[in-house]
Amino acid sequence: MKTGFFITLEGFEGSGKTTLARKLHHLFLKNGLNAMLTKEPGGTQAGDKIRKILLERGNEGLGYKAELLLFTASRAENVRINIKPALEKGIIVICDRYFDSTTAYQGFGRGIDMGIIDYLNGLAVEGVIPDLTLFLDVDPDIGLKRATILSNNTELRFEDEFMQKKEVDGKLFLERVRDGYHQIARQNPERIKVIDANRDIPLILKDIVSIINTQLSQKFKKEITLEL
Ligand code: TYD
Repeated sequence: MKTGFFITLEGFEGSGKTTLARKLHHLFLKNGLNAMLTKEPGGTQAGDKIRKILLERGNEGLGYKAELLLFTASRAENVRINIKPALEKGIIVICDRYFDSTTAYQGFGRGIDMGIIDYLNGLAVEGVIPDLTLFLDVDPDIGLKRATILSNNTELRFEDEFMQKKEVDGKLFLERVRDGYHQIARQNPERIKVIDANRDIPLILKDIVSIINTQLSQKFKKEITLEL
């Protein structure tokens, strides 16, 4: 049975998601709470190999169906090996991207049938649903600028598609993914909190800590503080 607390971070490249996930992890540890940080795709031995197949330049020929199956395969391993066992031990798990990414990018972005997306996401996560999802909403132009400055050059496949202004059914891939995220957030108002990620990281972190504390104080009778 799950006794830990499960937080996922979602959003565009350049939203500060990965930096914030790391800072949050550090903050939990500094506040004396047992926490684990993982990411998708990746997080396991097989997952890291799958990540390379998915994101390395040179794999641009991969079809959408294979892409979907690989993202969900990586997730299934991450849930089985890392996330589920940690939550069962009462650990706080932070995951940089989770199933909402597949719904947003492969479902809304690529236009793959949502029934298939939901089925595969469900198969991969075995009922392990986040307690809290932080959707870091960044203006796509700001995000892309930040992402191209910060990004590892060998892993630019999706940014490339955004930059090339690729269209699916007459609408930019970028806009489809962003609209998708907003739709997912509207459908899950209890779980997903939309955060304005156009601001500086310290301000975003302050908001996130306050949201987390509301939930942690109920569950763990504990709050985290930024000043330690
Ligand atoms: P990631 O390494 O998290 O990139 P970043 O944190 O820099 O945004 O993810 C790489 C890309 O994979 C990202 O563009 C989003 C995409 N992605 C999907 O399309 N589907 C998924 O299920 C996941 C987890 C990621």
